[in-house]
Amino acid sequence: MANRLPVDRITTPEGEPSFRTSPGGLVTALEPVMRAADGAWVGWTGSVDDHLEPFEHDGIHIIPVALSADDVELYYEGFSNDTLWPLYHDVIAPPAYHREWWERYVAVNRRFAERAAEIAAEDATVWVQDYQLQLVPRMLRQARPDLTIGFFNHIPFPAYGIFSQLPWRTQIVEGLLGADVIGFQRTADAGNFSRAVRRLLGYQAKGSVIDVPLDDSELASAKHRISAVRPNKPVRTVVARAFPISIDAESYEDLARRPDIQARAKEIREGLGNPDVVMLGVDRLDYTKGIGHRLKAFGELLADGAVDVEDVTLVQVASPSRERVRTYQRLRDEIELQVGRINGDYSTLSHTAISYLHHGYPREEMVALYLAADVMLVTALRDGMNLVAKEYVACRFDNDGVLVLSEFAGAADELKTALRVNPHDIEGLKEAMLTAMRMPRAERSRRMRAMRKRVTENDVERWSSEFLAALAAPSTSLALPAANEATDPTDPSEEAGS
Ligand code: F6P
Repeated sequence: MANRLPVDRITTPEGEPSFRTSPGGLVTALEPVMRAADGAWVGWTGSVDDHLEPFEHDGIHIIPVALSADDVELYYEGFSNDTLWPLYHDVIAPPAYHREWWERYVAVNRRFAERAAEIAAEDATVWVQDYQLQLVPRMLRQARPDLTIGFFNHIPFPAYGIFSQLPWRTQIVEGLLGADVIGFQRTADAGNFSRAVRRLLGYQAKGSVIDVPLDDSELASAKHRISAVRPNKPVRTVVARAFPISIDAESYEDLARRPDIQARAKEIREGLGNPDVVMLGVDRLDYTKGIGHRLKAFGELLADGAVDVEDVTLVQVASPSRERVRTYQRLRDEIELQVGRINGDYSTLSHTAISYLHHGYPREEMVALYLAADVMLVTALRDGMNLVAKEYVACRFDNDGVLVLSEFAGAADELKTALRVNPHDIEGLKEAMLTAMRMPRAERSRRMRAMRKRVTENDVERWSSEFLAALAAPSTSLALPAANEATDPTDPSEEAGS
């Protein structure tokens, strides 16, 4: 279950209804998992009042959930993307707290839970995805105690000092605790969640295992899963730990090896005027991605004369996202103003400083862009994982290319030989860009090889099978690293010893 289905319903310019791959890392990761599974994907089609019957799409059984215009405004654009999204990304933008949004979030979560409760087979496994559906695990457990329920949070889970701003923080934590296993991108996220559970509910959370006391209805039901008796109190154990998400690395490499895609990469470089260095940014147009910081650093390098527009080009793909939310509208204006100014000041008739593309592209074109790019810039201010970083690495079977990676992206925990940056430090960012452009081939190759090993070994198949294995036998996870002992070294609001 996810807010979005893997496909969005669109209307073609000819007025015909059609489907297109939905945006975002969640779909990138889960599509291959679901294509290989004998299950169903429950979610929203991306358009208003779309009352569709279940259907098959590209090997996936789809169960649509309809959202009205009010649902989209209050639950999706409002509570999900103007309250939870900025709050969970360390309040980079100010979250808005509106009771009406919250009430609709509860109502839509209930609708998703009811739909899953209707269609899930006896003793089925239901895997709920992401921050839009945090109340579903508990609602579903109450309706269907026979189910095994997993939850995976694709975005960061903030430190308690930030999370505690949320007026409905207790309900969210209780909602999540309806799951048997709760997965996070980073160990630090799992630790933040366990701390929130201890602070808000006083439950015992040791290592990755949380003891959740059974309520009366659960006690009355003969069907709840593993339970243990801690001093006089029956509890259900919930595992909360990191399962860093990944991509189908092999399929990216297969595309990158295709001669037509390599020819397209060459064509892209030629189209850019064959500069010595092509730098690339690929993001949803979102304020968490640090696009403005990256542009500022590049603009200053041009202004300083450290790089020449004849030699270096930056390609920035910014795919449209959440376009009706005001913060996103403002961001688009800011970024496009910044791009226009830099191009106006530094482009020549033969060379454009920044090729800015406000579109989404098919995967083949993205792979060609990754092959064309000497330097990949991932400068997120906060990011759950950032699968673009992993896609770039997966495509570089030539062991070439340099990844500049923000320490605030979950991927930094794994891709340790990337050039790490603090995107707030513009001088540091400029230095990293120069280092990347000038890095000798041998060093590029050494760094890329190490990252490729990680990405190919820990692919999305491994991610899903490890999660589902933990879900099948949660108690076996007792031996795993203690999530609540890990703190996020990049997180200034982490409360030591709490
Ligand atoms: O990965 C985070 C996420 O919000 C997903 O849940 C979502 O599918 C994706 O980014 C794109 O966002 P949206 O669905 O709001 O367009």
